[in-house]
Amino acid sequence: MILEITQYGNPVLRKKCRKVSEVTDELKQFGEDLIETMVSAQGVGLAAPQVDRDLQMAVVDVSHDPECISYLRVDGKEASLDELMPLVFVNPVLEFGSEKDFATEGCLSIDGITAEVRRPTEVKATLQLLDGSRIVVETDGLLARAIQHEVDHLNGILFVDRLTTAKKVSIRGKLKKLSI
Ligand code: NI
Repeated sequence: MILEITQYGNPVLRKKCRKVSEVTDELKQFGEDLIETMVSAQGVGLAAPQVDRDLQMAVVDVSHDPECISYLRVDGKEASLDELMPLVFVNPVLEFGSEKDFATEGCLSIDGITAEVRRPTEVKATLQLLDGSRIVVETDGLLARAIQHEVDHLNGILFVDRLTTAKKVSIRGKLKKLSI
């Protein structure tokens, strides 16, 4: 089922989301709905608060571009994007590499705004999956960025919060219009 995507100004986007304590059949269906909604909106990621649920759960899928990462390890072993994507996860814990870079981001909840965001280039993500297992994903490129963007959502943080002061000022008017 395609869900309605919450838009900038909705308080659910500012919540610190609750941990998932139990994976029920309903939650598995919700995971399918998250994927379907992300695909239909042509996004590379979607987090639960973006469909009005304050749960630590999100999906990412960057498999449209195999060149968007330079490496991917799952539990320490080389893996391919195709076998991992779409990746639905709950209760993520992230560790970051020290290097940072800029890349353009947008958000399905912030219509019409894209901007350069500086983030750590590499990430090590410990993720719980809906089959009850826990995996450690190490990667860079767009996948590292998408995971960080979605995990930010679970903490009530939006990419526009991470812009330089000058850039924040330049989009202030647009954001104000969106939140009305
Ligand atoms: Ni977003």
